[in-house]
Amino acid sequence: MITYNQETQIFKLDTKTTSYVMGIADGKYLGHAYYEKKLDSTDLFYLLRTEEHPFVPSRLEREKLSFLDSFPMEYPFGGTGDFRESCIEIRNMQGQHGLELVYAGHRIYEGKGKLEGLPATWGDHCETLEITLEDACAGIRAVLSYSVFADCDALMRSVKIENTGSEPVYLERVLSACLEMDQEPFEILSLPGSWARERQIHRQPLVTGSFVTESVRGESSHQDHPFLAVLSEDCTQTRGEVYAMHFVYSGNFLAKAQCTQYGTLRMVLGIHPDRFCWKLDAGGSFQAPEAVLVYSDEGLGKMSRTFHDLYRSHLIRGSYKDKERPVLINNWEATYFDFNTDKLIAIAREAAKLGIEMLVMDDGWFGCRENDDSSLGDWTVNEQKLPGGLKVLADEVNRLGMKFGIWLEPEMISPDSRLYQEHPDWALQFQGRAPSLARQQLVLDLSRPEVADAIYDSISRVLQSAHIEYVKWDMNRALADIGSMAFPPDRQGELTHRYMLAVYRMQERLITDFPDLLLENCSSGGGRFDPGMLYYSPQIWCSDDTDAIERLQIQEGTQLLYPLSAIGAHVSDCPNHIVGRVTPFQTRGITALAGTFGYELDITKISEEERKMVPGQIAAYKKYAPLIREGDYYRIASYRENHLYDCYEIVSKDKRQAAVFFVQVLYEPGRRSRNIRLQGLDEQMLYEVDGRRYTGGTLMHAGLLRNRLRGDFQAEVIDIQAVF
Ligand code: DGJ
Repeated sequence: MITYNQETQIFKLDTKTTSYVMGIADGKYLGHAYYEKKLDSTDLFYLLRTEEHPFVPSRLEREKLSFLDSFPMEYPFGGTGDFRESCIEIRNMQGQHGLELVYAGHRIYEGKGKLEGLPATWGDHCETLEITLEDACAGIRAVLSYSVFADCDALMRSVKIENTGSEPVYLERVLSACLEMDQEPFEILSLPGSWARERQIHRQPLVTGSFVTESVRGESSHQDHPFLAVLSEDCTQTRGEVYAMHFVYSGNFLAKAQCTQYGTLRMVLGIHPDRFCWKLDAGGSFQAPEAVLVYSDEGLGKMSRTFHDLYRSHLIRGSYKDKERPVLINNWEATYFDFNTDKLIAIAREAAKLGIEMLVMDDGWFGCRENDDSSLGDWTVNEQKLPGGLKVLADEVNRLGMKFGIWLEPEMISPDSRLYQEHPDWALQFQGRAPSLARQQLVLDLSRPEVADAIYDSISRVLQSAHIEYVKWDMNRALADIGSMAFPPDRQGELTHRYMLAVYRMQERLITDFPDLLLENCSSGGGRFDPGMLYYSPQIWCSDDTDAIERLQIQEGTQLLYPLSAIGAHVSDCPNHIVGRVTPFQTRGITALAGTFGYELDITKISEEERKMVPGQIAAYKKYAPLIREGDYYRIASYRENHLYDCYEIVSKDKRQAAVFFVQVLYEPGRRSRNIRLQGLDEQMLYEVDGRRYTGGTLMHAGLLRNRLRGDFQAEVIDIQAVF
């Protein structure tokens, strides 16, 4: 529900439990007044503190600079007096910077428009507020959009910049969101990581100065995540305050929290301004990506559930959105590049017998690719490995009763490829400088439509050549040498964003042309796991680290924001290929239930005992898949914090069913049974757990006693069912 009170000049956007409030000061400046618990009044102008020194400019024109430097600006601009972090920076043809964006109008309407070329939330029962700010002198208009869905507690915002002048300008910075608040004893929560160690939850106090999390790698990255949250010091899973921002974008980003001299805090999020410069012709416009804002006064748990609900209902699309995903077996860790049709069929035959539903052929089936040195870009089948091509293999896999899927890496080119021989200029590069190779490959200049189209055509031919029902779209290196052989010098700063737009366009074409295809994004593990990619693929490979214990922290960080149904998780072989750890097969299965379940091993080679466990694991996945896909997530305990065990719970929306997923990492001698306090149940409802009955209140407040599991790396799933 969105309202504008003409008298008080206050905008108020209400979600189920929050209010987001802005006001127009001095008839000109749009200020941020409030984003917290829902309010019923709009008499909130006082929150802008315009009665305090340095007052609004009309009352004290000589102090305009101090006003601009202290006012809680809703969309801050720099160069005219606000020395804090700004959201927008323009360089005009005279080489000058500086803006003063003032209120020019607004409109409130039902629904939500698309963000041209960009991923964004969508859906019915939505209201949008558009506020137009203008700088007549610079010829710049900023249209700020805010949307709220009736069934969701989050707030979406984005901005479109228009050049209303008669000359081009250079947009050097355009961030998507800003939040201002009084500084309290806050902590910052971010999700730093690395390859095979993605999205590690990290908290640190913010007392003074700034905190930055960012990527300039051309992808959202393994190293940082396009997310930032400010938490009250006392914040836990169940209590305390959270102000969170998440970016629906997959390229370079900047997220910053800045303490100011007046004891306030400014948070911003958007496309990273480094190496970004967009030439905006007269009459032209630039659409910045969407940011999602979530406020919770009930700790991190409520924040997670809000993001999960939003992404499940209003971001993920396609025929698999609300459907069970097939249990797959992927041959990467089973064979790496050393496979052929016979080997794959042997794996498929055994897998089919055990109930696995899809074979995914990973990297190495095309060109002359025997290792990662060659052939990216040559999307034709290596007939030496796969005689007769994909059709023969796919048909045989289908005959075994399984679906068939393949791996692709469409954004890359190997210097050792036919494509590179024909089009060396198609790679991103600086003329005259030896390129920075990574995994012996270069990045294609997809900002050139002819390059993106040629690659799309070649992968689309592959997909038409056989019955292929799944694609794993990989991206195995960061962007460097960001130079295009086709773009003029004053447009080279557009490359990384144009690259991202091209990837989005290619994936949009793919899911439009092949509507029943299950697309899984991947980037050298989880290097591009973000809401942007989730708009195109309902699931994303979470990490190359498939060790059941390492995965606990990676998955916990991912679950903080993403629904479990989006998280690619597989059972792999032991000793684990990344960390060398040996864990029980059962524990690997239970850890992989926290996502789209599958196998990443040579099923023909594992022990008979393990093979026998596969049907039971698949049955467990089938049993819990609807709950995991639709239910509410509660984090009960974190191995990252306690160094002993991991525990989370999923509760169905009607609260009649729940399951607790428990992994005991280390066995502790000399302890009594463990008390697990459940969450999210109905206080009065009667539940049955292992044949004993409890009320929801008892399970939540007194807890459930569980005997210690014997040994390290042990796991169990606890089933909770309402009795009546
Ligand atoms: C990185 C992915 O994360 C792996 O699963 C695998 O597909 C390799 N790339 C293949 O090159």
